[in-house]
Amino acid sequence: MTASKIIIVGATSGIGRKMAELYIRRDYKVGITGRRLELLEEIKQQFPQQVEFARFDITQPGSIAHLEMLVSKLDGLDILVISAGTGEPSKELSREIDKTTIDTNVNGFAEIANWAFNFFVKQGFGQLVTISSIAANRGNSQAPAYSASKAFQSIYFEGLAIKAAKLKKDIIVTCIEPGFVGSKMAKSDNLFWVVPVDKAARLITRAIDKKKRKAYISKRWWIIAKLLRWIPYQVLKKFG
Ligand SMILES: NC(=O)c1ccc[n+]([C@@H]2O[C@H](COP(=O)([O-])OP(=O)(O)OC[C@H]3O[C@@H](n4cnc5c(N)ncnc54)[C@H](OP(=O)(O)O)[C@@H]3O)[C@@H](O)[C@H]2O)c1
Repeated sequence: MTASKIIIVGATSGIGRKMAELYIRRDYKVGITGRRLELLEEIKQQFPQQVEFARFDITQPGSIAHLEMLVSKLDGLDILVISAGTGEPSKELSREIDKTTIDTNVNGFAEIANWAFNFFVKQGFGQLVTISSIAANRGNSQAPAYSASKAFQSIYFEGLAIKAAKLKKDIIVTCIEPGFVGSKMAKSDNLFWVVPVDKAARLITRAIDKKKRKAYISKRWWIIAKLLRWIPYQVLKKFG
């Protein structure tokens, strides 16, 4: 049997990197991407037979050509995970931070998701995964563009899941909404229920195996998602 093939966009650090390590251990052929060449090369050197990489910035033109090349190096594609993202707080509503957030988490994300979904439609099967966020559920005064960008990702994936169901093809669309994960992105001091990166990666791969449409990391963040959806604006504005 040929090994399964996965691409993880944004695998140089954090959740994406830990997921890449897990899939390597599971004997997958793994395609990794990111901007930091030395980190991509470091992983490739450790697992030269199993890993292929492509260095590119998802906010710049050319992402799709890089992905197509990676698919041909892997000789196929079963799963694509979009873990690349930025999460800089924007307390002073910096236009620069807003722009980087939208370029990365909305435009870069949508280009890859659109390409991957159509690739799987043509192929007749595949699984598309994004690491959105619990922040998708309501507006946040500390990072308005970030929460809006994650709402875009979660809603886009809901649309893709419905599209896949209507097409009646074997395409799974999985949207992950983590709470706080202990990567370098989680910077604030007021964090709670922080999930270590290793554990988050394990829980995410389990949700992928189970072909979930939506999963919260960890499970108890489901309660926060429901609460956030339910609380009235007058309450939200006291702490959002
Ligand atoms: N940490 C949390 O608490 C948390 C909670 C909820 C959701 N998330 C989401 O989880 C995802 C992964 O975050 P993380 O915590 O693992 O953070 P991380 O360690 O900062 O990882 C981010 C990854 O994205 C890549 N990336 C960022 N901008 C890119 C760009 N313009 N082009 C190409 N690659 C880019 C980075 O690679 P290079 O720098 O090498 O390009 C890196 O591999 C993000 O979408 C984030 O919003 C995180």
